[in-house]
Amino acid sequence: MTCYSSHMKILAIETSCDETGICILENKDNSEIQILGNALASQVELHAKYGGVFPAMAKRAHAEKFVSLLIEALEQANMLILNESDLSDQEIGKIKNLTIKESGLTDSIIEFFVKYKKPDLDYIAVTTGPGLEPALWVGINGAKVLSTIWNTPIIPINHMEGHIITAALGKIEEKIYKIGDLNSPALSLLVSGGHTELVLTDAFGTYKKIGQTRDDAVGEAFDKVARMLGLPYPGGPAISKLAQKYRESHLEVPSWGELPRPMLHSGDYDFSFSGIKTAVLYAIRDHGELSEEDKMALASSFEDAVVEVLIKKTIAAAEEYHTQTIIVGGGVASNTYLRSQLKQKVEDKLSGTTLLFPEPWLATDNAIMIGMAAMWQIISDNINAQDSELIKADGNLSINSAK
Ligand code: KG4
Ligand code: ZN
Repeated sequence: MTCYSSHMKILAIETSCDETGICILENKDNSEIQILGNALASQVELHAKYGGVFPAMAKRAHAEKFVSLLIEALEQANMLILNESDLSDQEIGKIKNLTIKESGLTDSIIEFFVKYKKPDLDYIAVTTGPGLEPALWVGINGAKVLSTIWNTPIIPINHMEGHIITAALGKIEEKIYKIGDLNSPALSLLVSGGHTELVLTDAFGTYKKIGQTRDDAVGEAFDKVARMLGLPYPGGPAISKLAQKYRESHLEVPSWGELPRPMLHSGDYDFSFSGIKTAVLYAIRDHGELSEEDKMALASSFEDAVVEVLIKKTIAAAEEYHTQTIIVGGGVASNTYLRSQLKQKVEDKLSGTTLLFPEPWLATDNAIMIGMAAMWQIISDNINAQDSELIKADGNLSINSAK
């Protein structure tokens, strides 16, 4: 019999890149998890102007949004209760110390504590890596302040584990999910703006990376190619839309737009995407001005190349390791072409293998994925709460045996 604690309420925080997320989750007797509140602020418009994410700007935007998202999530969960009470000088001193580098957060969070009562929460989960360190620190220091004032322990979470567990969520009803049992061994293809990796797992909590990108992440390549084509940031959805339109009326890409498949036959599970990106640059240079149709052709050619490499390596790894489940996680997991092509390949070559994708609204960064990873620890009675003082950001935090 599984032993787990139910009716635990947690608040989860995600600030690893360009989405600020805060949510509140509760687990029920039957290990179902309810989303009580969920607030998300995207910095996409801010970064769109520059075609990418600048860490210092991302950090400031996270700090500015933190308290309003906290209030929004608590309000949705009916946990925002007015209570005019003063903080002690000692508490104010601690808050100031913890937020010394988070300008914009100190005053707003002090005001928050003065105005609202301590909510009924058992844990605070926060992303500690991988990601942009200045951005990660906002969530971590925010969590530390909440933990100190509310006397609530912190569970540090690996962002990539959040992406994996999110793909295994089964929807029970609106806002209620269950973390599915893992038919193992499982293989996760993690594809985001910062990562491209293949990870083996026998059970949630133990992971082994078997391959990764040697240069650009696949999402990063989408973003850079989009920029070359004059498309908005983030590039993934924009390229995907053009590519789909092109495929509706064409079977092949024109020869001037053909692109290489780097490392397709390298015999390992590593990837490289900077070569495809450079090839797009040369194709544009050699072709001259691009018509709308030309842009669609290049978008489609780029998506073909990237998806082919991702699928080939994923299928080869699944065959070698006899995996029962293939999980796709990260922002690029919402790419419809990758989804349909991989589904087709798995049906053709690996029938019987379960293929799991996150719901599209949970594929890109959010706090629910972080809360779900913490809930898995609670449900499996394997809670890895840590002393607040020891928790720090690690931009390169590895997935290997993440707790
Ligand atoms: O996981 P995520 O939200 O943030 C990181 O942890 O990086 O992933 C963001 C990345 C961006 O590079 C974005 O262009 C890409 O995911 N992306 C897509 C799609 N939606 C988002 N790439 C391809 N097709 C999509 N539909
Ligand atoms: Zn992510």
